[in-house]
Amino acid sequence: MLVSATDMLNAAVEGHYGIAAFNTNNLEWTRSILTAAEELQSPVIIQCTRGAANWQQGFKVVKDVVEDLVDYMNITVPVAVHLDHGTYEDCFEAIEAGFTSIMYDGSHEATFEINKERTAELVKLAHSKGISVEAEVGGIGGVEDGVASNGELADPKECKAIADLGVDFLACGIGNIHGLYPADWAGLSMDRLAEIKAEVGDLPLVLHGGTGIPTAMVQEAISNGVAKINVNTDLQVAMAKATRAFIESGKDLEGKNYDPRKLLKPGYDAIVDRAKELIRDFGSDGKGWA
Ligand code: 13P
Repeated sequence: MLVSATDMLNAAVEGHYGIAAFNTNNLEWTRSILTAAEELQSPVIIQCTRGAANWQQGFKVVKDVVEDLVDYMNITVPVAVHLDHGTYEDCFEAIEAGFTSIMYDGSHEATFEINKERTAELVKLAHSKGISVEAEVGGIGGVEDGVASNGELADPKECKAIADLGVDFLACGIGNIHGLYPADWAGLSMDRLAEIKAEVGDLPLVLHGGTGIPTAMVQEAISNGVAKINVNTDLQVAMAKATRAFIESGKDLEGKNYDPRKLLKPGYDAIVDRAKELIRDFGSDGKGWA
């Protein structure tokens, strides 16, 4: 059964561990994520952006694939299906499609007032259906799905204002960037994280751009209130690398290895392995029903 992300993230804050939110691109991707989570008995959030949903022919297909795989694979750990960086309009569509969790990314709205108003409206609607809500304050750097921002540090007072609207978890820029980090990246601002935490208390915080942050730095952020860590590029790189190795070794030319079930298997196995490493790094292994 799919669940909202609220209980698992509140348990993570209390237990001082983080839960991975992995982006999915297709059925095999989702299967790999579920395999990793089940093997390690970890709760997991499977999320997708509008762009990845379009690729998969819509939010409903994404939700149905997650739900049917959870059922078919006898997955016993809590699984949430979450909209990543939704616009106001995307949120209604994802709710309609049966997502158990949504992110309304109002950080790109013309004013903070609009972000607040729309967040409040979506919280009301989502909560009436048992769906959890993530909101965002302060843009996250890098480019994701064509959405770019300068990666400002979130204003702690704005975080408090959005938290007070009743959101279930909050994404706040603390120097993190989507995609691969540049060599001269300054790192996460633990000072800003502490200032935000002082304003919002035990509200689970979300770290976007989970790819490529040194493990010790992510763990420090987790011990300071981060409970959800978004990871997308990392698994894409792992998949691409394993696929490249398979082809470069010439194995794709052997036997019937042109069969996609064989050609792409090393890539999907690599996702399982990498997802397991990250789950262990974040400390949510064995926390399936914490
Ligand atoms: P990365 O692609 O950098 O891991 O970021 C993922 C993310 O934050 C999704 O919202």
